[in-house]
Amino acid sequence: MTTNTKKHDPSADPESQKPILEVSGLHKKYNEGKTNEVHALRGLNLTVRKGDMMAIMGPSGCGKTTLLNMIGHLDRRSTGRIVIGGLDTATLSDNQMTMFRRDNIGFIFQLFNLFPFLSAVENVETPLLLRGLNAKVARERAKMLLRELGMGDRLSHLPSELSGGQQQRVAVARALINQPEIILGDEPTGDLDSTTSADVMTLFRRINRVDQQTLILVTHNRWIAERCDYIVHMIDGEVSHVEHGPFSQETG
Ligand SMILES: Nc1ncnc2c1ncn2[C@@H]1O[C@H](COP(=O)(O)OP(=O)(O)OP(=O)(O)O)[C@@H](O)[C@H]1O
Ligand SMILES: [Mg+2]
Repeated sequence: MTTNTKKHDPSADPESQKPILEVSGLHKKYNEGKTNEVHALRGLNLTVRKGDMMAIMGPSGCGKTTLLNMIGHLDRRSTGRIVIGGLDTATLSDNQMTMFRRDNIGFIFQLFNLFPFLSAVENVETPLLLRGLNAKVARERAKMLLRELGMGDRLSHLPSELSGGQQQRVAVARALINQPEIILGDEPTGDLDSTTSADVMTLFRRINRVDQQTLILVTHNRWIAERCDYIVHMIDGEVSHVEHGPFSQETG
């Protein structure tokens, strides 16, 4: 991670005014055409600017995970348009999409499993090695990030030797290590106690300010959501309204 501490002023930077993500008319039907069809996303529209740190909230089943899966291209949409960094992703082949995703998007999903036979530090350094970074440098970066997340004494543990919250911190580190343009988190602090959640949110805010990374965080937790710039509320596969911060930092 860079140690540059320049303060980011979004209004002064034309780059940050550009949408990094534009979703329009997005529909997702599961089991399309069958009797058990579920219309999970119903013409959803969403624009996110570069450097936004935003939360998505909404009742269980309203389509939040489905939306993240569509943005991350982990699953196919039914219809609609998704433009990332000015690129209409429908124009990419499957292989191009895989590379694009690897280089631009970081995932923190609860079901996104760690490699079971790799230690904590090996899990975190893997994305860097895949990009061809020098092994020594990759190891140092992975160690630094894990230490920052309070995992300095668990570097060589296997996932099965870690608690749920510790595994989640390894998953957070693995998602951040490549410094992807967009970070997608599905309850990224879900398994963490309140102190560790606060530490992770502080880390998110720092990388967001320093590196202008865009964060899209699904959460059921109002305290977490209020650490973001704004909250997009979803109901029944659509955006119902957007709540803009700054929010009071006293609550919770
Ligand atoms: N693979 C699937 N096949 C069929 N239906 C699905 C599938 N995945 C999700 N659904 C349905 O799509 C709807 C949206 O699900 P989704 O997981 O996006 O909700 P969510 O907002 O993330 O909920 P939660 O807060 O409980 O995680 C739900 O009705 C769900 O049952
Ligand atoms: Mg979900």
